Amino acid sequence: MSEDIETTAIHPVRKKGHGPMVEPIFMSSTWRLKDAKQGADFALSTAPPEFYTRWGNPTTRDLELVLAKIEGGSNAIATGSGMGAVSSTVFTFVRPGKNVVAGKSLYSATTEMFARYLPQFKVNTKFLDTTIEGTFTKAVNRDTCMVYVESPANPTMELTDLREAAEAAEKVGAPLVVDNTFATPVNQRPLDLGAEVVVHSATKYLGGHTDVIAGAVITKDEETFKRIWKVYKMLGPSIGPFEAFLVRRGIKTLPLRVKRQNETAMALAEFLEGHKAVSRVHYPGLRSFPQHRLARRQMKGFGGMLAFEVKGGYKPAVRFAEGVRLASLAVSLGGVETLVEHAASMTHGTLTPQERKLAGIDEGLIRVSVGLEASADLIEDFRAALK
Ligand SMILES: Cc1ncc(COP(=O)(O)O)c(C=O)c1O
Repeated sequence: MSEDIETTAIHPVRKKGHGPMVEPIFMSSTWRLKDAKQGADFALSTAPPEFYTRWGNPTTRDLELVLAKIEGGSNAIATGSGMGAVSSTVFTFVRPGKNVVAGKSLYSATTEMFARYLPQFKVNTKFLDTTIEGTFTKAVNRDTCMVYVESPANPTMELTDLREAAEAAEKVGAPLVVDNTFATPVNQRPLDLGAEVVVHSATKYLGGHTDVIAGAVITKDEETFKRIWKVYKMLGPSIGPFEAFLVRRGIKTLPLRVKRQNETAMALAEFLEGHKAVSRVHYPGLRSFPQHRLARRQMKGFGGMLAFEVKGGYKPAVRFAEGVRLASLAVSLGGVETLVEHAASMTHGTLTPQERKLAGIDEGLIRVSVGLEASADLIEDFRAALK
């Protein structure tokens, strides 16, 4: 029987005997070697934890163990940022002359990588409307080197049918990579649904306390882990041992935090749906959400992220974002504090208006990351700011 994530997040393995309860922070960039042969062996091995900290580190290894376990993977790489995880993974799989198939709604730097950077290396991306059934089956072909999605996607909350995307990818031998930052493994485990790789911005829910920039790659099998690790080690987006310690500590309370955030987000989404200044609420838990049935099928909880459109567009949305008092106007997400941001001018402001339109981002869209405050207090804050 598989263990509940509440248990695994604390005890990924059972340690016995005398020792510290918490893995110490190994602030050492390198390890003294017994002899030259030992150094030569480490140099050729994958992820040795006591050689050189870009290769590996005991504190980081401790984090990687729990990351692999909670996502149901075989192994994991902790990175210095979410984009370090995304780029190490993407650069492992792309090939000149081949195509990437991706969801159209993605974190802005990921969109930039696919739309502006990869074409320089003759890799073109087909951006799909993931809300259309059968879209992956149609778009993926023998020249597809990777399928890449966020589900729910940032910031529109659009979902991808992960089983359909995985089946389409598998047919042509391409990996499905899922950015699981929004859902977290508490609400959704893409590897169980057929994905090869999961990536995270661990800056968000995994860290959970708005005090660290970090990322994670989790792979279904060891072979894929080795391939991505080689690229990661060459690109060098390594995490510091102190940051690894903070993320490891955050994960211990991840299941409790996310379950509470699921509940508060639902209450806030229902309140917003009934408000006359709001034209649309994007939250997978609402019956009115176009992919609600898919959400019920592939997610255990609907998450702490939601988005809504303020009537009147850009200006009223900015006024709302500046008007909240308990929530804060800030980018990022997944922490204990509720944050709001205006997507068109902030997180997705680097995109052109056409790119935003393609990604389905309305000029009045407000993205909310629900924290751990009492839901009644949050609803009052939103009611006052919407006035
Ligand atoms: C879904 C998603 N993926 C990746 C990233 C990039 O993460 P980081 O800022 O840790 O590099 C973000 C950042 O907001 C994100 O929201």
